Amino acid sequence: MPQVIAVLDFGSQLTQVIARRIRECEVYSRIYHFSTPASKLRDDGVAGIILSGGPQSVYSANAPHPDPEIFRLGVPMLGICYGVQLMGHFLGGKVAHSKAREYGHGVLTVRRPGRLFKGLARKVRVWNSHGDKITRLPPGFRAIGVTENSPFAAVEDARRGFYGIQFHPEVFHTERGVDMIRNFLLGVCGVKAEWTAKDFIGHAVDGIRAQVGKGRVLLGLSGGVDSSVAAALLHKAIGRQLTCVFVDNGLLRKGERELVEKLYGDHFNIDLRVVDASRLFLRRLKGVTDPEQKRKIIGRTFVEVFERSLKSIGKAEFLGQGTLYPDVIESVSIGGNPASLIKTHHNVGGLPERMKLKLIEPLRELFKDEVRRVGAALGLPREVVWRQPFPGPGLGVRMMGDITAERLEILRNADAVLQEEMMRTGYYYKVWQSFCVFLPVRTVGVFGDERTYDYVIALRIVESTDAMTADWAKLPHEVIQRVSSRITNEVRGVGRVVYDVSSKPPATIEWE
Ligand code: XMP
Repeated sequence: MPQVIAVLDFGSQLTQVIARRIRECEVYSRIYHFSTPASKLRDDGVAGIILSGGPQSVYSANAPHPDPEIFRLGVPMLGICYGVQLMGHFLGGKVAHSKAREYGHGVLTVRRPGRLFKGLARKVRVWNSHGDKITRLPPGFRAIGVTENSPFAAVEDARRGFYGIQFHPEVFHTERGVDMIRNFLLGVCGVKAEWTAKDFIGHAVDGIRAQVGKGRVLLGLSGGVDSSVAAALLHKAIGRQLTCVFVDNGLLRKGERELVEKLYGDHFNIDLRVVDASRLFLRRLKGVTDPEQKRKIIGRTFVEVFERSLKSIGKAEFLGQGTLYPDVIESVSIGGNPASLIKTHHNVGGLPERMKLKLIEPLRELFKDEVRRVGAALGLPREVVWRQPFPGPGLGVRMMGDITAERLEILRNADAVLQEEMMRTGYYYKVWQSFCVFLPVRTVGVFGDERTYDYVIALRIVESTDAMTADWAKLPHEVIQRVSSRITNEVRGVGRVVYDVSSKPPATIEWE
């Protein structure tokens, strides 16, 4: 593994952002719980430590404190916001509790550029969000930057490689914040920028080979980005020792199964088993209209079909999964990680134990954007690497009311038109998601001289950065108009197209 920078998480919402910024500097970072013993950090060979911000005051009764030994590891350290108060508190300075938070833009005047502010202007716009303040520096420290409100906005003990800043370098509002982080990593910690997709692939391939040996790995392929990249990576490492299983649940988009067969079977020459269970799924969903019921049936049937197909494939030792880093971080933040909740459907919970399979998760160190870069470096096409998210229950949650083969055909055809236009105009890659929803409502229309009585298709096109909140996309009217007229003209059974102008919250992205 490459050298690691530890980010100690004191409960800031920005901890993951810090970790990502480090990786943008092509340096490997890992998030640790704030209470991680110093010995563990030493054993992991960390080359630098960043103390994150946090909502607490260092003086509050339940304030998160690190193992004091971390300050004696002889490793450079950067304290951000709450992190710098911790340095003040633990290293013999004085921190004043203040009720008022300093929040928003400020201007940092750099007094001594040193290693942290190397290459920066003398005045830098920064983003503040802190309550407490250092009022007396610990021995060995000096101020290197000031703001209107604080003579100790940036401090250093250059001998020990300890730096502290009261503002947030990880947010975009701080001018050249990434350069400050890079200066700390390369200039103070002395690590090399070598965490690139190519290097990751090299390490991962070695790791997979060592773990798997002559064993066999099974992987459920969904066609989404994560499982696709996991498949390509495992295949590069162990070739035909990998068998991929793709379940056709009858709720896929038009051409999806063919795409998977072509890409993995033909192009990558992966041992791919396609299990057609569409009839079973549709039989079980017959007459079910409640969204939660639908999800449960689809989830349960998936696990059942998957398990049965694994048995028929023959003996294997490992089950591959496209788990990502945000799903495995032991976050301090209350409520855990929402992203992992959304994915419950994909977790084939209990299956590895029942089938005595060991889990292999080659992407568990990566953030989503890194997965995409790795996918591209492995030769996956843009359509796969930059694919919009698609829910596990598929078209099942995009069809209100009864799910029937006839209605699925209508939805698939309408959705294919929308995707074609999104691709043609380039908007597919600019929005978060774009899809059609089938409404089991019949409305009156005219087609030629004839009166029609057909179904409604809703277009759901949203912008978002993390799916937690979303807004409807303000696409040019001509684009929507063309999609609408193509759908009503080309898709039999649709008489009306409507555009969903709800944001999340209060609406969700999917309709069910
Ligand atoms: P909602 O509808 O809750 O969706 O705003 C947020 C994001 O999650 C996706 N989604 C799912 N993904 N299994 C998944 O793997 C599911 O059951 C599921 N339900 C919603 C949705 O497409 C959106 O990106």
